[in-house]
Amino acid sequence: MTDTKKSPQGEWSSHSAFIMAATGSAVGLGNIWKFPYITGENGGGAFVLVYLLCVALIGIPIMMSETLMGRRGRHNPVTTMESLTAEAKADEHWHYLGWMGIIAGILILSYYSVIAGWASAYVLKAFTGSFFDADAAAVKQLFADFIASPVQLAFWHTAFMLATMWIVKQGVNNGLEKALRWLMPSLFVLLILLVGYAMTTPSYFQGLHFLFTPDFSKLTGNSILTAMGQAFFSLGIGMGAVMVYGAYLPKKISITETVVVVSIADTVVALLSGIIIFPIVFSNGLQPDSGPGLIFETLPIAFGSMIGGWLFGILFFVMLVLAALSSSVALIEPAVAWLIETRGFNREKASLYAGSVTWLIGFASIFSFNSWSGFKIFGQTLFELLDYVTANLMLPIGGFAIAMFAGRIMVRGHSEQELDLPNPLTYQIWQLLIKYLAPAAVFLVFLDVVGVL
Ligand code: TRP
Repeated sequence: MTDTKKSPQGEWSSHSAFIMAATGSAVGLGNIWKFPYITGENGGGAFVLVYLLCVALIGIPIMMSETLMGRRGRHNPVTTMESLTAEAKADEHWHYLGWMGIIAGILILSYYSVIAGWASAYVLKAFTGSFFDADAAAVKQLFADFIASPVQLAFWHTAFMLATMWIVKQGVNNGLEKALRWLMPSLFVLLILLVGYAMTTPSYFQGLHFLFTPDFSKLTGNSILTAMGQAFFSLGIGMGAVMVYGAYLPKKISITETVVVVSIADTVVALLSGIIIFPIVFSNGLQPDSGPGLIFETLPIAFGSMIGGWLFGILFFVMLVLAALSSSVALIEPAVAWLIETRGFNREKASLYAGSVTWLIGFASIFSFNSWSGFKIFGQTLFELLDYVTANLMLPIGGFAIAMFAGRIMVRGHSEQELDLPNPLTYQIWQLLIKYLAPAAVFLVFLDVVGVL
């Protein structure tokens, strides 16, 4: 009986525990580090608008699909896809979707951990007063000196991976759940305080204008793809992380409600982060398109000059690291669940294996910022390539496949039963989005990028 099936890994202890874990997975570096810098690189307002549309029309319906597939399959992505295909009597090749997810998770985490390492190093820099009274040039130099050192980056990357492995070892509902309960609200309060600081800067409105006034001439095929990729990345969908979290979801919890709440929280955090960063960028004569270092080259200026900045600086980077940790455990969970469920590993061994592989791959990104910065493939460093291939290609392809599967392959009664929507019309709308709009949008954006459109 599929209805009473439970995941071999246990279940979330309550509704709010799942909301917290899903928000923890969604909110992370993607919102606070990546959203501002790619918005800056892609010209602001129009990019933000495309991103918001992608979240609402593609992201939310796909996240619902991924969660319901996970809850029905109750296992790691590969086993889940195998059991769902068997149930729908579909082509067995669908389990490659599960594989792609496991690989995407590890590749993303390999560079995610390097950046989370930067945030960890900045906790220490904040603590020792490195930002005190520092101007834009000093803060920029501090960052440049830091990333020039492979040894320092390796140290912090290693520390972050060890922390991730240690949490993963504890299992789905120990420790992490409790930490998230206070982490998310505190992060939110701190962001609001920083918005308060941004309001006092001379270029506050210029920052808002940059973020919210669309200039469509700035949109290219690639920036639309990047915005779509960011919607997937930020929600954490398209690779099976949501699928495994869905596998631990008790039957009685409403998928739709949870997904909507999580998506709104995720989007609000990203927008707040933009509202904080861009006024600081313009007020200090910095460039919005200065790349992955953007938040590290701007926020310290704020902490160095605001009242209480020493304490807020420490708190901010600590919370950023914790938010990154609650995402990193989601990124590695598909691989870990697969090792446990199909290879008979215990949690400890599984997290050690998956974590070590990820850690090693991370060195490609570490060297991208210093020793190998001149080594480029298709004009991109290894870090940029990893980011592009995972966020802009693997996640949208994974999302496309999830939409196709949930909308066209899965037995209709099953998705209806999992979603359990209050009225038939809502279910129809979901079907429409998942069967036609989401896959068509992904497909068209790809055509545009390869130049067919
Ligand atoms: N969403 C997280 C962030 O914004 C990162 C993340 C967690 C993720 N799980 C994921 C990204 C799955 C892609 C796929 O920081």
